[in-house]
Amino acid sequence: MKAIILVGGEGTRLRPLTYSVVKPMVPVANRPFIEHVILKLAAHGINDIVLAMGYKPDSIFAYFKDGAGAGIKLSYSLEEKPLGTAGAVKNAGAHVEDTFFVLNGDTFSDIDYTYMLAFHRRNRAKATIALSHVEDPTRFGVVETKEDGRVTAFIEKPARDKVTSHWINAGVYILEPSVLDCIPGNQFFMFEKGVFPPMLDRGERVFAYTSKSYWIDMGRPSQYHQLNCDVLRGLCSSPLYRVKDITIEQGCAVHPSAHITGPAVINGGCNIAEDATITGPAVIGRNCLIGKGASISNSVLWDDIIVGAGASITGSIIASGAKIEESTRLEDLTINQEAPSDPITKKI
Ligand code: GDD
Ligand code: MG
Repeated sequence: MKAIILVGGEGTRLRPLTYSVVKPMVPVANRPFIEHVILKLAAHGINDIVLAMGYKPDSIFAYFKDGAGAGIKLSYSLEEKPLGTAGAVKNAGAHVEDTFFVLNGDTFSDIDYTYMLAFHRRNRAKATIALSHVEDPTRFGVVETKEDGRVTAFIEKPARDKVTSHWINAGVYILEPSVLDCIPGNQFFMFEKGVFPPMLDRGERVFAYTSKSYWIDMGRPSQYHQLNCDVLRGLCSSPLYRVKDITIEQGCAVHPSAHITGPAVINGGCNIAEDATITGPAVIGRNCLIGKGASISNSVLWDDIIVGAGASITGSIIASGAKIEESTRLEDLTINQEAPSDPITKKI
């Protein structure tokens, strides 16, 4: 079965954390975010994956090349101009002949795609939208339903006083190919405004699959941090991460006096010096040097980071290549040192 993943246009970065790494490639438990998403689909037999994107994804090509694992067909659909969520699917779905999935490429969930497909078929739906329950629906598409799951209204990003439900569009759809007929070609078009509300006006069979499973939109640094911690704690599952208290990849040197408390995952080539403390949840990328007596807790470090002796990092995300000076204290910060002379430091 096919899935089209909307991985975004030119602006798809996790700003201000990094400008060079595109959002799908930011590491979650040391593997690219989008790889977790792809393998999760494949685990449900959805293994014909199209990445719909509006920028030249050199880093994605370089990482995946032609495939994302055994039995997964991976292809790319590029947009010459911004086409919006539905326009991008139209562009990518030229040859879709069967029921297919669409995923917003910045969401991660434990939604059971197999059950969702059975639900879609049982209802003879033209479109099924997965819903998640959130505290603040104003940043999302709010979906109203009848008791049988039939969708009655779709309101994208309602004002606070217009919120009628806390069930929101989780950014996972199952569509029949005929939905593509509602989307004009080569034109900016959004599911949230141009496709779902008119389908409801026409009385078409749009159903909501409500799910209480784990769900997050990782499009902001605080949620990206949360996702890493949740994967490590086993609050959401990924075929790429086996929940384990402490994982230390090959080629690391850990001083016997260093103290590591899980959940922690430390990628290859790291050097953890004497009396350093790592307190989970903690993700440490490849080739990091954690200096003598430094402490890291509840943080996500990418690759090639030097943490000076006695430095303390709590609740933070540090992008690749950063050098944290001796005895520095960082709390709830994102550090982007892509231009070493001009580090960008922001509160998470
Ligand atoms: N290829 C492509 N082309 N992808 C796009 C485009 C485009 O022109 N525009 C947006 N996307 C991708 C984004 O990269 C993201 O992965 C996804 O489509 C959704 O876009 P966002 O910009 O992240 O939307 P949002 O988070 O404000 O709202 C959407 O997601 C919510 C769930 O997280 C809506 O679908 C809401 O209804 C929904 O609740
Ligand atoms: Mg989003």
